[in-house]
Amino acid sequence: MARPRVLSGIQPTADSFHLGNYLGAVRQWVSMQETHDAFYCVVDLHALTVQPNPDDLRRRSRVAAAQLLAAGLDPERCTVFVQSHVRQHSELAWVLMCLTGMGEAGRMTQFKDKSAKFGENAAGVGLFNYPILMAADILLYQTDQVPVGADQKQHLELTRDLAQRFNHRYGETFTLPAPYIVKEVEKITDLQEPTAKMSKSSSSPQGILDVLEPAGALRKKVMRAVTDTGTEVLADAENKPGVTNLLRIHSALSGTPVPELEARFAGEGYGTFKKAVAEIVVDTFTPLRERAEKLLADEAELDRLLAIGARRAGAVAEETMVRVRDRVGFLPGA
Ligand code: TYM
Repeated sequence: MARPRVLSGIQPTADSFHLGNYLGAVRQWVSMQETHDAFYCVVDLHALTVQPNPDDLRRRSRVAAAQLLAAGLDPERCTVFVQSHVRQHSELAWVLMCLTGMGEAGRMTQFKDKSAKFGENAAGVGLFNYPILMAADILLYQTDQVPVGADQKQHLELTRDLAQRFNHRYGETFTLPAPYIVKEVEKITDLQEPTAKMSKSSSSPQGILDVLEPAGALRKKVMRAVTDTGTEVLADAENKPGVTNLLRIHSALSGTPVPELEARFAGEGYGTFKKAVAEIVVDTFTPLRERAEKLLADEAELDRLLAIGARRAGAVAEETMVRVRDRVGFLPGA
């Protein structure tokens, strides 16, 4: 039987992924390449919505790809590519835009949050269309499962709605994708503001643990993480969000269940516990950073691998687009 298809994407909007990206998404991508027919893309078209300067975008796209490979994605076992290399993403996005209501797109909470940040009228149409482009990414590959963090749930609902609408209007064309979200790591929170999502656009870098950051900086940030009143190392999302976040991080990285960690650190106080969290983060990120640096030292080889990925992805995307063009009534082309 054919393996189920998986697709996911990550934006090259920062000089490093952070722990939320790693635990919420990338780590699942690595394990799913063993069990799924997997496609993973660096979504540079999405990154353009925040108008980066061209050199930043170019650099960050390579840095993103290098981190994916360094985290364990193997181009022999999955397809890693850059979104803009596969033109069908933009093409299908247009078709889907024509099926999307203004109100429907306007209801997306990430759009509302981001446009509020930019200011009333400063948000671009690209930001508005962001989730529709994401739907195109997913539907092009007839994707069964999409490994993401909790913040992408609403975008996946829109994707399913658009797939159903298209199938209903034009005939069965798209597979309906399901989100693949790991509850324990679906929302890693900011170390300084432990009720908010850890995010590239967070107000302070102190709250974010970057994959490519030196060990010293990582340790400092964990030791300074906001903890809660009391001294007990116990998971209690409501009253102890800071400690709970650190417990989840430790548990995800060490594979030790949270209750076992609670027992291990009973009576130890926050300091000892934070030291343990810092060490496990450093132990995870250091080899990853070193591998990413090596990959980035040979841009030609990295670009070669991405070109192979683009060819493989492009072949699958084109198969879907051939059908879509015909279904919607475009004339056969040259
Ligand atoms: P991006 O680059 O913002 O995030 C990449 C992935 O990281 C997850 N994530 C988190 N998970 C847990 N805790 C956090 N604090 C945290 N912060 C981020 C995100 O949920 C995401 O899975 N819109 C997508 C990019 C995209 C995409 C796609 C994803 C474009 N096309 C097609 C899947 C399928 C995004 O938010 O990327």
